[in-house]
Amino acid sequence: MIYLDNSATTRPDPAVVETYMKASLGFFGNPSSLHTLGVEAERLLNEARNRVAAYLGVSSNEIIFTSGGTEGNNLAIKGAAKARKHRGKHIVTTSAEHASVLATCQSLEAEGFEVTYIDLDPRGLVSVESVMAAVRPDTVVVSVHHVNNEIGAIQPVEDIGKRLMDWPNAMFHVDHVQGLSKVPLSLNDAHIDLCTGSAHKIHGLKGTGFLYKRKGTNISPLQHGGNQEFNVRTGTENVAGAVALAKALRLMGERGSELKRLESLKGYVIKELKKIEGVIVNSPLEGAPHIINMSLPCIKPEVVVQALAEKDIYVSTKSACSSKESEPSHVLQSMGLAHERTVSAIRISFSVETTKEELDRFLMEFRQLIPELMEVAQS
Ligand SMILES: Cc1ncc(COP(=O)(O)O)c(C=O)c1O
Repeated sequence: MIYLDNSATTRPDPAVVETYMKASLGFFGNPSSLHTLGVEAERLLNEARNRVAAYLGVSSNEIIFTSGGTEGNNLAIKGAAKARKHRGKHIVTTSAEHASVLATCQSLEAEGFEVTYIDLDPRGLVSVESVMAAVRPDTVVVSVHHVNNEIGAIQPVEDIGKRLMDWPNAMFHVDHVQGLSKVPLSLNDAHIDLCTGSAHKIHGLKGTGFLYKRKGTNISPLQHGGNQEFNVRTGTENVAGAVALAKALRLMGERGSELKRLESLKGYVIKELKKIEGVIVNSPLEGAPHIINMSLPCIKPEVVVQALAEKDIYVSTKSACSSKESEPSHVLQSMGLAHERTVSAIRISFSVETTKEELDRFLMEFRQLIPELMEVAQS
């Protein structure tokens, strides 16, 4: 099997699964319980929090464990908007965000917030100037992703964060789900107030993630009940999930040197793809090391995905959440690309486990497949 859909999800690292099992069986107490089992579970949870915080270079009490990216994005944006609605009801974001940001913004529009959506340029980048031009005195949230999940472009969030320091009313949220442990980001240097991460994109487990909330940033909780996670995300904590997340981050940290290898593999694959007639690469060379997006005008992307799957090679069309829809890619639309490119996108995404041999086999099959499919499409 050649798995090239790592932006949708990664294979959990067996060591992460083992850590989860051990923590699950050995520390099943409720961290809120007063007895020894509860105290031990709480200690383990706090240890995991310390490790995640240390990895990100922030304080432990700035980490809230969540069920992943979707929850983190909802909690950050709705939570910040609702906590600040007396100061203003304007939000700035891009039209190329993940569905969990876009749909969250749309739900806030239905509640009376106004949202400005900024388009990307043809290279897939949002300009700092266009974001700043949209910010107003009543802007309470600015949300910009770090790495685009469809094309891998790296947005200038550091520069946006610095510029937003002049706008203390506006909380800066960054969806870091695709960048986490793959593209460096200093939350402090970038002056980020809220930042979302998810474990299943880094060989961790689905249903686990975190929201970084800078000290002093107020957000309204979305659910009510207990007082866990600093009253911001109530409900009995997933202790083993948090420990597994910390482990996944540590392992990714240890494999940091692999990213250079991925970067050069990406350059190699892009070069080879560009030689294939009918293939247009949409990803910037200087983007994240693990994502390549291309368009195959004339060919239905679902057919390519199926044909490769028959050869045990797994790629995707657009992002996983929207890949079953035959609509155009909203990211490629945001870049202003021609319709035929927006409806014919294929994404391949690597992980630290991806090898050159696998990519060569993919390229070989792809080189054979595309002319065949073009012929069928034209007949
Ligand atoms: C950029 C981005 N944000 C958020 C998410 C949602 O994360 P999760 O699957 O953990 O809910 C994803 C997942 O594809 C993503 O790529």
